[in-house]
Order: sequence, then structure tokens, then C-alpha cells
Amino acid sequence: MASLAADFFRRVADPFSQVTLATWCLIIVVLAYLLLSFTELSLLRKTYNALRHYGTFAYTCFLKPHSGDNTGKQQDALESFYSSQASIYDATRAKLLQGREDMLALVGAQLKNRRDTDQLSKKPIWVDIGGGTGWNIEQMQSQLDVQTFFHAVYLVDLSSSLCEVARQRFHRLGWKNVHVICEDARTFRLSDYEAGVDDSQREFSIGKSVYEEDARDAVGADLLTMSYSLSMIPEFHSAIDSITNLLSPTGIVGVVDFYVQNQIEFQSRNYIGGAIDRHCMWVSRVFWRTWFELDRVNLESARRDYIEYKFGTILSTNRRCRLFGLRIPFYIFVGCTRSTANSIHQLEAVDAAVTESPFISALDLHAQTLNPKVRRSSSTERRSKAYDTAVINLASSLPLPAAYYQSNKTRIYYDETLQKHRQFNDEYIYAFTWEDSRTDARLLKITGDDVILALTSAGDNILSYALERPKRIHAVDLNPAQNHLLELKVAAFRSLDYQDVWKLFGVGKHENFQKLLLENMSPHLSSQAFDYWLHLGTPTFNPSGKGLYFTGGSRHALRLVSWLGSLLGIKNDMRRMCEAQTLNEQREIWNKRVRRVLLSQFLAYFVIGSERFLWKALGVPSEQRAMIEEDYKRQLDRPSVSAIAASDEKSGVGQPGQVGATKSGQAIWNYGVQTLDPAVNNTLLSEDNHYYRLCLLGEYSRKCHPDYLTPKAHIKLAQPGALDNLRIHTDELAEVFARMQPEALTIAVLMDSMDWFSPTGPEADAQAKAVNRSLKLGGRVLLRSAGLNPWYMRAFEMNGFVTKRVAARIPPGTCTDRVNMYASTWICTKTASLEQ
Ligand SMILES: C[S@@+](CC[C@H](N)C(=O)[O-])C[C@H]1O[C@@H](n2cnc3c(N)ncnc32)[C@H](O)[C@@H]1O
Ligand SMILES: *[C@@H]1O[C@H](CO)[C@@H](O)[C@H](O)[C@H]1NC(C)=O
Ligand SMILES: *[C@@H]1O[C@H](CO)[C@@H](O)[C@H](O)[C@H]1NC(C)=O
Ligand SMILES: *[C@@H]1O[C@H](CO)[C@@H](O)[C@H](O)[C@H]1NC(C)=O
Repeated sequence: MASLAADFFRRVADPFSQVTLATWCLIIVVLAYLLLSFTELSLLRKTYNALRHYGTFAYTCFLKPHSGDNTGKQQDALESFYSSQASIYDATRAKLLQGREDMLALVGAQLKNRRDTDQLSKKPIWVDIGGGTGWNIEQMQSQLDVQTFFHAVYLVDLSSSLCEVARQRFHRLGWKNVHVICEDARTFRLSDYEAGVDDSQREFSIGKSVYEEDARDAVGADLLTMSYSLSMIPEFHSAIDSITNLLSPTGIVGVVDFYVQNQIEFQSRNYIGGAIDRHCMWVSRVFWRTWFELDRVNLESARRDYIEYKFGTILSTNRRCRLFGLRIPFYIFVGCTRSTANSIHQLEAVDAAVTESPFISALDLHAQTLNPKVRRSSSTERRSKAYDTAVINLASSLPLPAAYYQSNKTRIYYDETLQKHRQFNDEYIYAFTWEDSRTDARLLKITGDDVILALTSAGDNILSYALERPKRIHAVDLNPAQNHLLELKVAAFRSLDYQDVWKLFGVGKHENFQKLLLENMSPHLSSQAFDYWLHLGTPTFNPSGKGLYFTGGSRHALRLVSWLGSLLGIKNDMRRMCEAQTLNEQREIWNKRVRRVLLSQFLAYFVIGSERFLWKALGVPSEQRAMIEEDYKRQLDRPSVSAIAASDEKSGVGQPGQVGATKSGQAIWNYGVQTLDPAVNNTLLSEDNHYYRLCLLGEYSRKCHPDYLTPKAHIKLAQPGALDNLRIHTDELAEVFARMQPEALTIAVLMDSMDWFSPTGPEADAQAKAVNRSLKLGGRVLLRSAGLNPWYMRAFEMNGFVTKRVAARIPPGTCTDRVNMYASTWICTKTASLEQ
């Protein structure tokens, strides 16, 4: 008895029997599931077929020993695995090999983009490595017309039974330009098959090793794809080297495959283009590796790593294949050749645009390298961080960061692993911009010569500036997600028609977001932004959800308004107010109904007064609150209007809370009243004030929306090249200023960012100095503040600026603009007067 038990336990301890046992359990679960879900008689036949397919699949995958004919060759092993299931291959893999359609959509979008921008000089050639039954090639038809788009398509696969299925498929479809080649991926050479190569060369190419430097094929593939085949090729180094040489210098490679990886392996790499969900848990790593080994599928992370090392990353994402409640990790990679010949030259060009320095042509650069004296002087030149990083990568023979392989280098490389970027937890705070773009336009009068640096926020105002066609716009934000949002807007203008742009950003919902992202917007996004939106876009824009404007930190404010509306029964009044056709009608609804509730004292003290809420919902830090409190105290002390206006006292030099807890609540309440009352009293929500309309109803209307959402704006911004003057920086303002060439900018829009500095800290002075250095003479700074007379204006005055308050909420009740959220608006102009 004891020996029987011991024997049993020994059997169970053997990993193979464990996996077999697990397989049987899985099969039983699947059977039960299928039986239970198909109770209708008419479905029994379908069930039987499915069962037969999955039964054969399960048998060949997990139970049938596949040893080949003992010659040890890979082809025999493959045949023993695939010959009995070639006919049911497609039916059984549809659920398991997920992401193939997405990969094809992504490379298809890249090719279409190249065609539309005249980057394809001839019809492209596509090679599908390990293409199996040719499913991918038929699937591609939903993206492109395979027969007319491609000059030729090669399916290369080592399994003759799968090749046979593929041949039958293309015979049935009648596609003459598709060629099925039953050959090892490591020896396949395009020049052996493409016409135009004479016989002597053909002989030569067969014996040519892929490892040699000049081994690149004379004929290159414009598209190379590998779906779930890389993990099946035992010697992957030579296979990847071989496809590297197969790719034409301008070609694209797309890979989708299973993987497992621990974060310590990729943590220090700056070229992988984003790592959301890349790390796999220990259980998952061990289990999936062992499981797939049974099928000779190798999930070892070195395969993916080597792909990323050999190619430049354009897009990269990590997904999970959901199957019967399990989650198998897989990745999609889209890359290009990692040419190094021209890299430095390209880097210089990108860097010049980032730092606004004049671009030194390659010849000058050459002269500089030859002449050590000139070189020394150029080393004091300011370089962007992106440039410095790229140079280090080149020096250590690594690929450049993904940002350098984008078709339009709008987004500038940043180190996403830094804590200062990660503190935002992949969430933007503002889903919409909370500064009046019309006032900005009136105050700034942007012309074609202006070089603007502005905070990104939600990007709405950046797009408004772009409508004026300035020479260049630098959008800066420390929070990567804010920049992802701007990138999405830019990509939408570059690739979608007005209806879709309106649905995305006017309504905030779209029923086909994922399709638009993969097929249209992906060529225009950085890898990080693409990855972000692939993960979060579908829930964000889901038509049955609440839409874009109920995401991000600002959703708390919208939620509160909507919640109060329902709770206190003024939801209808809020809607009526947003539909009122005249100011009088609007004022009446406001005063009689809405105001009473929204501005109740109760709310002011208990909700708005709490620091946590303020920070989360409105983004108000304690330094800003101190200003509000002091201005309030001063108003109480000196009620006469002229006294306040003339007062030179600075706001915000004290500590928050210094005025006492009750006063502090009152101050905030008063600030809120002074924001809302004049705005509602003076601007019409139904037609003119989309800012408050959005807050009350959570959406824009066709009549009332930001400038960049008009059909006219779409025509302007959708023109090719219309947004090429935009550069998106992810860093602190101070860092970006520090890397700019002196006197490069004409306008800096700082919003209320300086309110966040502490009056005792050195930041304000340093920032004013940096702005002075970067601005041209006569250049202007536009900023807003919660204080009437912010303390840091002195810093500007001491650093060569003339400051002017162009709007203020004095006397109380004044409406400064449609948002009316800030107590004062300032323009600081750089003048030479200090020097003279
Ligand atoms: C899991 S299948 C994927 C097939 C197809 N790409 C798909 O997505 O359905 C892996 C394929 O790689 C092929 N393969 C494995 N090693 C190969 C090699 N050395 N050269 C060419 N093909 C190979 C196998 O024959 C098999 O068809
Ligand atoms: C953006 O892409 C277009 C088309 O490839 C190109 O003409 C343009 O120069 C690119 N702009 C930048 C800034 O790279
Ligand atoms: C609203 O505007 C009207 C007319 O401009 C003015 O008479 C009234 O005092 C204002 N009310 C408030 C609360 O500001
Ligand atoms: C402001 O910048 C200019 C150069 O653009 C410089 O000459 C001047 O000294 C700076 N002013 C101060 C106060 O630093």
C-alpha cells in the first residue's frame, strides 16, 4: 500500500505527467464548457466539428509524442507535429494565436502611409517567414489589396504539409503574385527568386553567409513578417541575422509571438519603446515556458531581445492572449532597419529642431571633427537630452531610442523610467485645457515668425496656436500621459476625417477606436503613446461608457458636478441653462436654481476646502491656495476697490492656512463665487462658453466647442505637414529652457505653473533667468495666476522683463475671459532697458 502511494507520488512529481494531467483537466473543462453552451440541437453538428478539431489539436500538441523520424532534423520534427493537423490548423489557431490581425493592421498602416507620402518607389515585396498555411496573407486583404499592392509575396515555411495547404489556398483565391516556398528561413534569399539577378550571382548567393557585413541581399523585402514562427525556430540568431539581410534599407518588419520576461532584463534599456505590461509574473514565466516547450515552442526572452537589438523599434506592445480564463503573454513588434551610416547626421537634424539651434550641415560637421579647435567650441553648444542619450547608444552599439525611428519625429525621446514621470501613474490630470484660447489669441497675435513654447495640458491650446501657423511650437509637459493625449489629437488630424475627429474629441466616444488606432493613427504615434492608447483607448472612448471627458484627474470635478446635479435635483436646470438662448434667460436659471446648490456654503467648507480634493480635481497645490487666502484677507481689510487695484502688496508670500481654518474655507468659497458668477453672467453657455458647458454636461455640442474642433480647423490641420512644426517635450519647463539655444523663442506660455513654486525657493528666479535667456528681445511671456499680484512677478522684473497685468478680477465681479478661473493674467516682455 505504502509503496503504491510512493509510486503514485513519484509519478505525480514528474513534470511531464503533471503537464499531461493538467492537459486532461483542461480538456475536460473545455468539453464540459462546450457541451453546456450548445444545448440547442441545431448546434450539435457544429459542436461535433469543433470537438473534433480541438481533440486532434490537443492530441497532437500535448499527447502524441513527436520525435520525428529520429534523424534529429528540424523539418522532420515539424512534419511529425504538423502533418496530422495541417487541415485543421487554421480552425484551431484562430483563438490561440491572437494579435496576428493587429500586427498585420499595423504593418499595413505603415505601408499605406509610405505609399501616401510617396516613399515607395516601386511596388513592395512581402516575405512572410514561417507563414504556415498562408492565413496571414489572406487576412491582409482586409487592409490592402494583396494582388495589386504587392509586386510579389513570398511565404517561406519549412513544413511541407502546411505549405501544401497554403498552395491550395492561393490556387483557390487565384492570387498569382503569391509564391509558396518550402525552405528553411535561415537559407532563404530573395535574390534567388526575384527576377533581374543573373545566374552567376544566384549561384553565389546560395553559399553566402548572412553573418558577413556586406551580406545584405541585392533585392530587399519591403515587408517582412513573422507570426508565431520565431519561437519555433531553434537557432534563432542565424534566422534573425538572415531576415536582417533580407530587409530592404527602407523596409518594415512585423513580429508577433508569445514571450515571457522578467523586468530586470529590460529595465535599463532605453530603446524598447515602452514597457506597459511587459513584465510577466514568476508563475506565468515558469508555467508558459515549460508548457510550450512540449510543443518545441521556445518562449525564451532572448529571441525578442535579439529582434529589438537588430532592428529599430517603431512600435512595440505587450498583450495577453485570453483563453479559457488564462492569460498567455504575447508581444507585437514593428521595426525598421537599424542603419548606422547616416545616424549622426540624422541626430543632428533632429536635435537642431529640438533646441532651435541652426542646423549644421554634414559637411560643416565633418570639418568640425577634423579641426579640433572648432570642435572644442562646438562642445559647449547646447544639446538636447535626447541627443546625448542617442550618442551614448550609438557609442555602445545599441539601437537608437524608438523616438528616432518614427516617421515624423514629433515626440522627443524621454526617459520614461524616471520617477518624475512615473509619479503620475499613467494618468493625465487634464482631459481638457482650462485656459481661454480666444484670449490667448487676442493677447499674443501669433504670426508666422513666432517660435512658441507652451505647456501641453490637454493640448487644446497647442492646436489653437497651430491654427495660426507659427514657425514652431514646443509643447512641454512633465506628465507623459498629457503628451500622449496631445499626440493622439495630432495623429487624429494627420489620419482621420472630420467625423471621426469630432466623435473622438467632441463627443469623447467612438465605437471603433481600436480599429482607427491600428489602421489609421498608428504610423503617426510614438511607440509609447501608441502603447498607452492601445491599452487605455478602448475603455476611454467606449460608447456605452462616459467618454473621454470623464477620464483623467479632471473627471472628479465633472463627476462631482453631475452627482450634485442629480442629488439636489438640478440636473434639468443645468441642462436648461446650457441651452438658454439669451444671457438673461441663462442668468435667471443660474440665480434661481443652479447657483443656490453649486455654491452652497456647505460645499465650500467641507468639500472644496479639503486639500486632497483640490489637488485631485482642480490641480490646486498649497502654494496657490496661499495666494488666494492672502488676497481674500486683503480684500476684507481694505474693502475699497481702488485700494486693492493700486495695492502693490504681493500675493502668496505667506503660508497656506495662515489665515485660519474658517477664513481659509471662506477664501476658497469666495474665489469660486468670483470665478463662476461673472462667467455665467457674461458668457453664453449654449453658444460661446464650451468650458462650462463641458463641466455641466460632460460633452461639447456642434455649436459650442474648442476652436480646433471646427470643420474649418480640420481642413487646416489635416493638410500634409500642417503639424510638422510641433515638437512635444516630456520634461520640466526649466530643463527644456536650459537646453534651448539663447534667444530662440518669441513666446512662452506658462499658464499658472509658476503658482506652484514656493516663494522661499530658488525656482522662480531660476525660471525667470532661463526664460530671459531663451527669449528674443521683445519676446513675451503669457501667464495666469490665482493671485491678483503674484509674488514672482518681481523675479521677472529683476531679470530684464517689463511686466504688465492685462486682465484681473478687479473689481470683484469682473469677467476676465470665458474661463475666468484666474485672478490675473500677465504679459512680461523682454526689454533691453536694464542693460542700457
Ligand atoms: C505556429 S506556426 C505559425 C504559422 C503562421 N505564421 C500563423 O501565424 O498561423 C509556426 C510556423 O513556423 C514554421 N517554421 C518553424 N521553423 C522554421 C524554419 N526554420 N524555417 C521556416 N519556417 C519554420 C513552421 O513550419 C510553422 O508553420
Ligand atoms: C513628416 O513626414 C513627412 C512625410 O514623410 C515629411 O515630408 C516631413 O518632412 C516629416 N516631418 C518631419 C518633421 O519629420
Ligand atoms: C450681471 O450682469 C449685469 C449686467 O451686465 C449686472 O447688472 C449685474 O450686476 C451682474 N451680476 C453679477 C452677480 O455680477
Ligand atoms: C537677459 O538676456 C539677455 C540676453 O538675451 C542678457 O544680455 C541680459 O543680461 C539678461 N538679463 C538679465 C537680468 O539676466
